[in-house]
Amino acid sequence: MADEEYILRVENIHKSFGELEVLRGVTFDVKKGETICFIGPSGTGKSTLLRCINQLNKPDDGHVWLHGEEVTNSGNRINYFRQRIGMVFQNFFLFDHLTALKNVEIALIKVRGMDPKEAREKALYELRQVGMEKWAEHYPAELSGGQAQRVSIARALAMDPDVILFDEPTSALDPELTREVLEVMKLLAEQGMTMLVVTHEMGFACSVATRIMFMEHGIIQEQGSPDQMMSDQTFERCKNFIGKVTGYGTD
Ligand SMILES: Nc1ncnc2c1ncn2[C@@H]1O[C@H](COP(=O)(O)OP(=O)(O)OP(=O)(O)O)[C@@H](O)[C@H]1O
Ligand SMILES: [Mg+2]
Repeated sequence: MADEEYILRVENIHKSFGELEVLRGVTFDVKKGETICFIGPSGTGKSTLLRCINQLNKPDDGHVWLHGEEVTNSGNRINYFRQRIGMVFQNFFLFDHLTALKNVEIALIKVRGMDPKEAREKALYELRQVGMEKWAEHYPAELSGGQAQRVSIARALAMDPDVILFDEPTSALDPELTREVLEVMKLLAEQGMTMLVVTHEMGFACSVATRIMFMEHGIIQEQGSPDQMMSDQTFERCKNFIGKVTGYGTD
């Protein structure tokens, strides 16, 4: 039985692609309002893990539970769970032929069956939340990467999700634009949104995360609070990794 204290439970997830064993038993629980940052070297399965949580990848073994209901093996109900579990990708995935407003509105109308006027109000509200209301009538091609990413966050928020998964939401962006997106995410964390964030932004992870999970070779090797991860001698591998990441781009 899943414990109601936890919004999300991930239990012993395994995933291989052919011969390649990418996830080798990943288990963790998420409480409401937590921001968990996943860090780790390239190819260790961070994206695959997020994709297994909302079943964009089907795990070979293991379970995912949301509020005590099983997400894995949920058949047609997966569409319901995908509304409850939002996702924000590195490359935004906005519809190019729709304005910012329509990008946020469309799932409200098509998936949630909201009437167009109500959907428009809700979409404008969410755009306001991410500081993008002024850009509502603009098309993705007219937006900076940071603005486009904020629209895609508004789109995720519009579904009133229980949790949002972010897969390197700023890694396609310049530092300036990265900052504006991280600010929005920080605000969401402060408002109590539950978030799982794959990121290389250690400043964000250290200041916003309730827990940092260091993934390597398909498992969570080390986890702890940002303070523990930075100071505790036992987290040697993670500290080495952080040293390498934060060393990039410095003179
Ligand atoms: N659909 C797929 N088919 C085959 N192999 C895949 C597929 N998706 C991911 N992989 C492989 O699984 C491994 C883990 O990929 P994943 O994208 O989860 O890593 P990651 O930790 O997110 O890396 P990065 O930091 O580079 O984004 C990689 O070797 C990748 O090539
Ligand atoms: Mg990835």
